[in-house]
Amino acid sequence: MSAMLLLLSGMVTVPQAPRKDLALFYRRACAECHGVDGGARSGSGLRLAGRNLADHRWQARTTDGDMVRAILKGKREMPAFGANLSEEDAKRLVTEILRPMAARK
Ligand code: HEC
Repeated sequence: MSAMLLLLSGMVTVPQAPRKDLALFYRRACAECHGVDGGARSGSGLRLAGRNLADHRWQARTTDGDMVRAILKGKREMPAFGANLSEEDAKRLVTEILRPMAARK
């Protein structure tokens, strides 16, 4: 299989990738609890009372810094992702993936 096909199949992670595919990362690491659209309606999301990330009222009173901190360090049932994400990636995850979830509602 060519390197390109391996990449496309998602079986290979690229260690030097300059920018993480954060939409893909969200689907793999977060959607299980928060739902693909952030609504936390999935099985484990409901069980763990995963925060509805798409709730615009909650988003309005939460700073990017609060979200980044929760993502990197975890919060109660929320696992920490500091080992998987740099602080910069966590910030981009907030501004490019989480914030637009509320804007869509
Ligand atoms: C195992 C389930 C689970 C996974 C996986 C998970 N979360 Fe959470 N998350 C939670 C729960 C539960 C809460 C509510 C925490 C609380 O306030 O008690 C939460 C809260 C949050 C919050 C709000 C924190 C705050 O300030 O109130 C953000 C932002 C968040 N998660 C983002 C993410 C992102 C981004 C990912 C993927 C990188 C992710 N979560 C993966 C369960 C999960």
